[in-house]
Amino acid sequence: MAKASRYIGELNGLCASLPNPELLINTIVLQESKDSSAIENIVTTQDELYKAAAEESTASHAAKEVLSYREALYAGLEKMQAQKNLLLTNTMVEIVQIIKQNKAGIRNTPGTALKNAINGEVIYTPPCCEEVLREKLASLERFINNPEASPLDPLIKMAFIHYQFEAIHPFADGNGKTGRIVNALYLVQQELLTQPILYLSSYIVKYKTEYYQLLRNVTEKNNWHDWIMYMLTALTETAQLSTKKIRNMLSLKEEIEKKMKQVLGSSFSYDLLQLMFTLPYLKIELLEKKEIAHRQTASIWLKKLTEADILKPQKIGRTTYFVNYKLMDVLSAD
Ligand SMILES: Nc1ncnc2c1ncn2[C@@H]1O[C@H](COP(=O)(O)OP(=O)(O)O)[C@@H](O)[C@H]1O
Ligand SMILES: [Mg+2]
Repeated sequence: MAKASRYIGELNGLCASLPNPELLINTIVLQESKDSSAIENIVTTQDELYKAAAEESTASHAAKEVLSYREALYAGLEKMQAQKNLLLTNTMVEIVQIIKQNKAGIRNTPGTALKNAINGEVIYTPPCCEEVLREKLASLERFINNPEASPLDPLIKMAFIHYQFEAIHPFADGNGKTGRIVNALYLVQQELLTQPILYLSSYIVKYKTEYYQLLRNVTEKNNWHDWIMYMLTALTETAQLSTKKIRNMLSLKEEIEKKMKQVLGSSFSYDLLQLMFTLPYLKIELLEKKEIAHRQTASIWLKKLTEADILKPQKIGRTTYFVNYKLMDVLSAD
Protein backbone atom coordinates (compact mmCIF):
# COMPACT_ATOMS: atom_id res chain seq x y z
CA MET A 1 0.00 0.00 0.00
CA ALA A 2 2.83 2.37 0.86
CA LYS A 3 4.50 1.64 -2.45
CA ALA A 4 1.32 2.19 -4.43
CA SER A 5 0.67 5.49 -2.62
CA ARG A 6 4.18 6.66 -3.28
CA TYR A 7 4.02 6.03 -7.01
CA ILE A 8 0.60 7.58 -7.34
CA GLY A 9 1.91 10.59 -5.45
CA GLU A 10 4.83 10.86 -7.84
CA LEU A 11 2.55 10.65 -10.86
CA ASN A 12 0.22 13.25 -9.46
CA GLY A 13 3.12 15.59 -8.64
CA LEU A 14 4.43 15.27 -12.16
CA CYS A 15 1.00 16.09 -13.60
CA ALA A 16 0.67 19.08 -11.31
CA SER A 17 3.96 20.43 -12.58
CA LEU A 18 2.94 20.28 -16.24
CA PRO A 19 2.30 23.69 -17.76
CA ASN A 20 -0.46 22.25 -19.87
CA PRO A 21 -1.62 19.00 -18.27
CA GLU A 22 -4.59 18.31 -20.55
CA LEU A 23 -2.18 17.95 -23.40
CA LEU A 24 -0.24 14.86 -22.38
CA ILE A 25 -2.99 13.52 -20.18
CA ASN A 26 -5.33 13.34 -23.12
CA THR A 27 -3.16 10.67 -24.70
CA ILE A 28 -2.87 8.67 -21.45
CA VAL A 29 -6.65 8.82 -21.02
CA LEU A 30 -7.08 7.56 -24.58
CA GLN A 31 -4.74 4.68 -23.81
CA GLU A 32 -6.76 3.79 -20.75
CA SER A 33 -9.94 3.96 -22.83
CA LYS A 34 -8.44 1.64 -25.40
CA ASP A 35 -7.24 -0.94 -22.87
CA SER A 36 -10.37 -0.84 -20.75
CA SER A 37 -12.41 -1.54 -23.88
CA ALA A 38 -10.00 -4.29 -24.92
CA ILE A 39 -10.76 -6.25 -21.74
CA GLU A 40 -14.02 -7.18 -23.37
CA ASN A 41 -12.58 -7.67 -26.83
CA ILE A 42 -13.27 -4.25 -28.26
CA VAL A 43 -9.98 -4.01 -29.99
CA THR A 44 -8.70 -0.95 -31.78
CA THR A 45 -5.19 -0.44 -32.98
CA GLN A 46 -3.23 2.51 -31.77
CA ASP A 47 -3.24 4.02 -35.28
CA GLU A 48 -6.93 3.52 -35.80
CA LEU A 49 -7.69 5.19 -32.52
CA TYR A 50 -5.63 8.31 -33.08
CA LYS A 51 -6.96 8.67 -36.59
CA ALA A 52 -10.45 8.48 -35.14
CA ALA A 53 -9.52 11.11 -32.56
CA ALA A 54 -8.57 13.43 -35.42
CA GLU A 55 -11.66 12.69 -37.47
CA GLU A 56 -14.49 10.96 -35.69
CA SER A 57 -16.91 10.71 -38.59
CA THR A 58 -14.99 7.99 -40.41
CA ALA A 59 -14.01 6.02 -37.32
CA SER A 60 -14.63 2.29 -37.01
CA HIS A 61 -17.22 1.03 -34.57
CA ALA A 62 -14.57 -0.09 -32.08
CA ALA A 63 -12.70 3.21 -32.27
CA LYS A 64 -15.93 5.11 -31.66
CA GLU A 65 -16.63 3.01 -28.61
CA VAL A 66 -13.19 3.84 -27.25
CA LEU A 67 -13.82 7.55 -27.81
CA SER A 68 -17.14 7.20 -25.99
CA TYR A 69 -15.30 5.74 -23.02
CA ARG A 70 -13.13 8.83 -22.82
CA GLU A 71 -16.18 11.05 -23.15
CA ALA A 72 -17.91 9.12 -20.36
CA LEU A 73 -14.91 9.51 -18.09
CA TYR A 74 -14.87 13.29 -18.46
CA ALA A 75 -18.64 13.62 -18.23
CA GLY A 76 -18.58 11.53 -15.05
CA LEU A 77 -15.86 13.69 -13.59
CA GLU A 78 -17.80 16.84 -14.35
CA LYS A 79 -20.97 15.45 -12.85
CA MET A 80 -19.22 14.31 -9.70
CA GLN A 81 -17.63 17.72 -9.25
CA ALA A 82 -20.96 19.45 -9.88
CA GLN A 83 -22.56 17.32 -7.17
CA LYS A 84 -20.33 18.44 -4.30
CA ASN A 85 -17.73 15.89 -5.30
CA LEU A 86 -20.06 13.02 -4.44
CA LEU A 87 -19.93 9.91 -6.57
CA LEU A 88 -23.58 8.99 -6.96
CA THR A 89 -25.75 6.43 -8.72
CA ASN A 90 -26.99 8.97 -11.26
CA THR A 91 -23.38 9.59 -12.31
CA MET A 92 -22.82 5.88 -12.81
CA VAL A 93 -25.96 5.71 -14.95
CA GLU A 94 -24.82 8.65 -17.03
CA ILE A 95 -21.42 7.02 -17.52
CA VAL A 96 -22.87 3.76 -18.81
CA GLN A 97 -25.26 5.61 -21.11
CA ILE A 98 -22.42 7.49 -22.71
CA ILE A 99 -20.29 4.37 -23.03
CA LYS A 100 -23.12 2.43 -24.62
CA GLN A 101 -24.55 5.44 -26.47
CA ASN A 102 -28.07 4.51 -25.36
CA LYS A 103 -30.59 5.29 -22.66
CA ALA A 104 -30.37 1.99 -20.80
CA GLY A 105 -30.71 2.32 -17.04
CA ILE A 106 -30.52 0.00 -14.05
CA ARG A 107 -31.42 -3.57 -15.00
CA ASN A 108 -35.06 -4.32 -14.53
CA THR A 109 -35.41 -7.73 -16.08
CA PRO A 110 -33.96 -10.97 -14.72
CA GLY A 111 -31.65 -13.16 -16.75
CA THR A 112 -28.28 -11.45 -16.53
CA ALA A 113 -25.53 -13.91 -15.68
CA LEU A 114 -21.79 -13.88 -16.13
CA LYS A 115 -20.79 -16.87 -18.20
CA ASN A 116 -17.56 -18.50 -19.16
CA ALA A 117 -17.02 -17.48 -22.80
CA ILE A 118 -15.73 -20.92 -23.78
CA ASN A 119 -18.01 -23.47 -22.11
CA GLY A 120 -20.99 -21.30 -21.17
CA GLU A 121 -20.76 -22.23 -17.48
CA VAL A 122 -22.49 -19.65 -15.28
CA ILE A 123 -19.80 -18.01 -13.18
CA TYR A 124 -21.87 -15.51 -11.29
CA THR A 125 -25.50 -14.45 -11.12
CA PRO A 126 -25.84 -10.88 -9.90
CA PRO A 127 -28.83 -9.67 -7.89
CA CYS A 128 -32.02 -8.48 -9.56
CA CYS A 129 -33.92 -6.20 -10.25
CA GLU A 130 -34.10 -2.42 -10.24
CA GLU A 131 -35.40 -1.87 -6.72
CA VAL A 132 -32.90 -4.25 -5.15
CA LEU A 133 -30.08 -2.92 -7.28
CA ARG A 134 -30.86 0.67 -6.35
CA GLU A 135 -30.75 -0.25 -2.67
CA LYS A 136 -27.39 -1.89 -3.09
CA LEU A 137 -26.07 1.07 -5.05
CA ALA A 138 -27.29 3.38 -2.30
CA SER A 139 -25.24 1.39 0.23
CA LEU A 140 -22.27 1.57 -2.08
CA GLU A 141 -22.76 5.34 -2.38
CA ARG A 142 -22.60 5.65 1.40
CA PHE A 143 -19.46 3.52 1.51
CA ILE A 144 -17.84 5.67 -1.20
CA ASN A 145 -18.84 9.12 -0.03
CA ASN A 146 -18.85 8.86 3.73
CA PRO A 147 -15.29 8.51 5.03
CA GLU A 148 -16.37 8.18 8.66
CA ALA A 149 -18.46 5.15 7.86
CA SER A 150 -15.40 3.23 6.74
CA PRO A 151 -12.05 4.71 7.68
CA LEU A 152 -9.87 2.76 5.31
CA ASP A 153 -7.04 3.92 3.10
CA PRO A 154 -8.56 5.10 -0.18
CA LEU A 155 -6.51 2.65 -2.22
CA ILE A 156 -7.85 -0.31 -0.27
CA LYS A 157 -11.29 1.23 -0.45
CA MET A 158 -11.00 1.50 -4.21
CA ALA A 159 -10.42 -2.25 -4.40
CA PHE A 160 -13.50 -2.87 -2.25
CA ILE A 161 -15.57 -0.49 -4.34
CA HIS A 162 -14.56 -2.08 -7.61
CA TYR A 163 -15.41 -5.59 -6.48
CA GLN A 164 -18.67 -4.41 -4.96
CA PHE A 165 -19.73 -2.50 -8.05
CA GLU A 166 -19.00 -5.48 -10.29
CA ALA A 167 -20.85 -7.82 -7.93
CA ILE A 168 -23.91 -5.59 -8.01
CA HIS A 169 -23.56 -5.49 -11.80
CA PRO A 170 -26.30 -2.87 -12.09
CA PHE A 171 -26.49 -2.68 -15.89
CA ALA A 172 -27.23 -5.11 -18.65
CA ASP A 173 -23.83 -4.34 -20.16
CA GLY A 174 -20.91 -1.97 -19.65
CA ASN A 175 -20.44 -2.81 -15.97
CA GLY A 176 -16.72 -3.50 -16.30
CA LYS A 177 -16.02 -0.24 -18.07
CA THR A 178 -18.24 1.83 -15.80
CA GLY A 179 -16.62 0.24 -12.75
CA ARG A 180 -13.16 1.09 -14.04
CA ILE A 181 -14.18 4.70 -14.65
CA VAL A 182 -15.55 4.81 -11.11
CA ASN A 183 -12.07 3.81 -9.87
CA ALA A 184 -10.47 6.80 -11.57
CA LEU A 185 -13.16 9.19 -10.34
CA TYR A 186 -12.80 7.89 -6.82
CA LEU A 187 -9.08 8.64 -6.73
CA VAL A 188 -9.84 12.17 -7.94
CA GLN A 189 -12.54 12.53 -5.30
CA GLN A 190 -10.05 11.42 -2.66
CA GLU A 191 -7.52 13.95 -3.99
CA LEU A 192 -4.94 11.31 -4.76
CA LEU A 193 -5.06 12.48 -8.36
CA THR A 194 -6.01 15.90 -9.66
CA GLN A 195 -6.66 14.49 -13.13
CA PRO A 196 -8.32 11.15 -13.92
CA ILE A 197 -5.15 9.58 -15.26
CA LEU A 198 -5.51 6.15 -13.77
CA TYR A 199 -4.17 3.70 -16.33
CA LEU A 200 -5.18 0.53 -14.51
CA SER A 201 -6.52 -1.26 -17.55
CA SER A 202 -3.11 -1.83 -19.11
CA TYR A 203 -2.38 -4.08 -16.13
CA ILE A 204 -5.79 -5.73 -16.26
CA VAL A 205 -5.40 -6.52 -19.97
CA LYS A 206 -2.07 -8.15 -19.21
CA TYR A 207 -3.42 -10.16 -16.27
CA LYS A 208 -7.01 -10.58 -17.32
CA THR A 209 -7.48 -14.21 -16.27
CA GLU A 210 -6.38 -13.30 -12.75
CA TYR A 211 -8.72 -10.29 -12.75
CA TYR A 212 -11.72 -12.50 -13.49
CA GLN A 213 -10.56 -15.28 -11.19
CA LEU A 214 -9.88 -12.99 -8.24
CA LEU A 215 -13.26 -11.27 -8.51
CA ARG A 216 -14.79 -14.71 -8.50
CA ASN A 217 -12.75 -15.84 -5.51
CA VAL A 218 -14.03 -12.96 -3.43
CA THR A 219 -17.58 -14.18 -4.02
CA GLU A 220 -16.90 -17.88 -3.69
CA LYS A 221 -14.08 -18.01 -1.14
CA ASN A 222 -14.25 -14.65 0.54
CA ASN A 223 -10.67 -14.14 -0.62
CA TRP A 224 -10.32 -10.38 -0.28
CA HIS A 225 -6.63 -10.49 0.42
CA ASP A 226 -5.50 -11.61 -3.03
CA TRP A 227 -7.94 -9.28 -4.76
CA ILE A 228 -6.68 -6.28 -2.83
CA MET A 229 -3.07 -7.24 -3.47
CA TYR A 230 -3.84 -7.51 -7.17
CA MET A 231 -5.33 -4.02 -7.25
CA LEU A 232 -2.44 -2.52 -5.26
CA THR A 233 0.07 -4.10 -7.60
CA ALA A 234 -1.91 -2.82 -10.59
CA LEU A 235 -1.90 0.68 -9.09
CA THR A 236 1.84 0.57 -8.42
CA GLU A 237 2.80 -0.70 -11.85
CA THR A 238 0.50 1.52 -13.85
CA ALA A 239 1.37 4.66 -11.91
CA GLN A 240 5.03 3.96 -12.66
CA LEU A 241 4.23 3.30 -16.30
CA SER A 242 2.27 6.54 -16.65
CA THR A 243 5.01 8.54 -14.99
CA LYS A 244 7.55 7.06 -17.35
CA LYS A 245 5.39 7.77 -20.38
CA ILE A 246 4.76 11.36 -19.38
CA ARG A 247 8.48 11.94 -18.75
CA ASN A 248 9.33 10.45 -22.15
CA MET A 249 6.68 12.58 -23.83
CA LEU A 250 8.06 15.69 -22.15
CA SER A 251 11.59 15.08 -23.33
CA LEU A 252 10.39 14.16 -26.81
CA LYS A 253 8.44 17.40 -26.89
CA GLU A 254 11.54 19.40 -26.01
CA GLU A 255 13.56 17.61 -28.64
CA ILE A 256 10.93 18.16 -31.33
CA GLU A 257 10.47 21.79 -30.37
CA LYS A 258 14.17 22.44 -30.93
CA LYS A 259 14.15 20.70 -34.29
CA MET A 260 10.96 22.44 -35.36
CA LYS A 261 12.46 25.82 -34.60
CA GLN A 262 15.40 25.00 -36.85
CA VAL A 263 13.18 23.75 -39.64
CA LEU A 264 10.45 26.39 -39.54
CA GLY A 265 12.52 29.34 -38.39
CA SER A 266 10.45 32.42 -37.66
CA SER A 267 7.23 30.70 -38.69
CA PHE A 268 7.56 28.19 -35.81
CA SER A 269 4.12 27.66 -34.30
CA TYR A 270 3.69 26.65 -30.70
CA ASP A 271 0.06 25.76 -31.38
CA LEU A 272 1.18 23.27 -33.98
CA LEU A 273 3.59 21.69 -31.53
CA GLN A 274 0.80 21.39 -28.98
CA LEU A 275 -1.50 19.81 -31.53
CA MET A 276 1.15 17.28 -32.52
CA PHE A 277 1.18 16.10 -28.92
CA THR A 278 -2.58 16.03 -28.51
CA LEU A 279 -3.45 14.42 -31.82
CA PRO A 280 -0.48 12.54 -33.24
CA TYR A 281 -2.31 11.95 -36.53
CA LEU A 282 -2.40 15.33 -38.25
CA LYS A 283 -3.83 16.40 -41.54
CA ILE A 284 -4.00 19.70 -43.32
CA GLU A 285 -7.73 20.17 -42.70
CA LEU A 286 -7.18 19.70 -38.99
CA LEU A 287 -4.76 22.62 -38.84
CA GLU A 288 -7.33 24.71 -40.68
CA LYS A 289 -10.15 23.58 -38.42
CA LYS A 290 -8.19 24.39 -35.29
CA GLU A 291 -7.36 27.78 -36.84
CA ILE A 292 -3.65 27.19 -36.54
CA ALA A 293 -2.90 27.95 -40.18
CA HIS A 294 -4.48 28.39 -43.59
CA ARG A 295 -4.36 25.57 -46.01
CA GLN A 296 -1.26 26.66 -47.88
CA THR A 297 0.82 27.41 -44.81
CA ALA A 298 -0.33 24.19 -43.17
CA SER A 299 0.73 22.21 -46.18
CA ILE A 300 4.16 23.88 -46.29
CA TRP A 301 4.74 23.23 -42.60
CA LEU A 302 3.77 19.59 -42.77
CA LYS A 303 5.94 19.09 -45.82
CA LYS A 304 8.96 20.66 -44.15
CA LEU A 305 8.46 18.65 -40.99
CA THR A 306 8.21 15.50 -43.07
CA GLU A 307 11.46 16.29 -44.88
CA ALA A 308 13.13 16.81 -41.51
CA ASP A 309 11.88 13.37 -40.41
CA ILE A 310 9.81 14.83 -37.59
CA LEU A 311 6.56 13.59 -39.10
CA LYS A 312 5.92 10.61 -41.34
CA PRO A 313 3.25 10.74 -44.04
CA GLN A 314 0.77 7.89 -44.21
CA LYS A 315 -1.81 7.73 -46.95
CA ILE A 316 -5.09 6.15 -46.02
CA GLY A 317 -7.72 6.21 -48.72
CA ARG A 318 -7.62 9.70 -50.12
CA THR A 319 -6.31 11.34 -46.98
CA THR A 320 -2.69 11.82 -46.09
CA TYR A 321 -2.00 11.85 -42.39
CA PHE A 322 1.21 13.26 -40.99
CA VAL A 323 2.10 11.11 -38.05
CA ASN A 324 4.08 12.16 -35.02
CA TYR A 325 5.51 8.66 -35.13
CA LYS A 326 7.98 9.14 -32.29
CA LEU A 327 5.11 9.99 -29.98
CA MET A 328 3.29 6.88 -31.16
CA ASP A 329 6.38 4.86 -30.19
CA VAL A 330 6.45 6.41 -26.73
CA LEU A 331 2.74 5.71 -26.28
CA SER A 332 2.92 2.08 -27.23
CA ALA A 333 6.06 1.30 -25.19
CA ASP A 334 5.63 -0.52 -21.89
N1 LIG B 1 -16.98 -13.27 -11.16
C1 LIG B 1 -17.26 -11.98 -11.34
N2 LIG B 1 -18.03 -11.31 -10.46
C2 LIG B 1 -18.32 -10.02 -10.63
N3 LIG B 1 -17.91 -9.30 -11.68
C3 LIG B 1 -17.15 -9.89 -12.59
C4 LIG B 1 -16.78 -11.25 -12.48
N4 LIG B 1 -16.02 -11.57 -13.53
C5 LIG B 1 -15.92 -10.45 -14.26
N5 LIG B 1 -16.58 -9.43 -13.73
C6 LIG B 1 -16.71 -8.04 -14.20
O1 LIG B 1 -17.69 -7.99 -15.22
C7 LIG B 1 -17.19 -7.22 -16.31
C8 LIG B 1 -17.92 -7.61 -17.58
O2 LIG B 1 -19.27 -7.17 -17.47
P1 LIG B 1 -19.95 -6.31 -18.62
O3 LIG B 1 -21.23 -5.77 -18.13
O4 LIG B 1 -19.96 -7.10 -19.88
O5 LIG B 1 -18.93 -5.10 -18.72
P2 LIG B 1 -18.26 -4.47 -20.06
O6 LIG B 1 -19.28 -4.57 -21.14
O7 LIG B 1 -17.90 -3.09 -19.67
O8 LIG B 1 -17.04 -5.29 -20.29
C9 LIG B 1 -15.70 -7.50 -16.29
O9 LIG B 1 -14.93 -6.50 -16.95
C10 LIG B 1 -15.41 -7.51 -14.81
O10 LIG B 1 -15.22 -6.19 -14.32
MG1 LIG C 1 -20.04 -6.45 -21.94
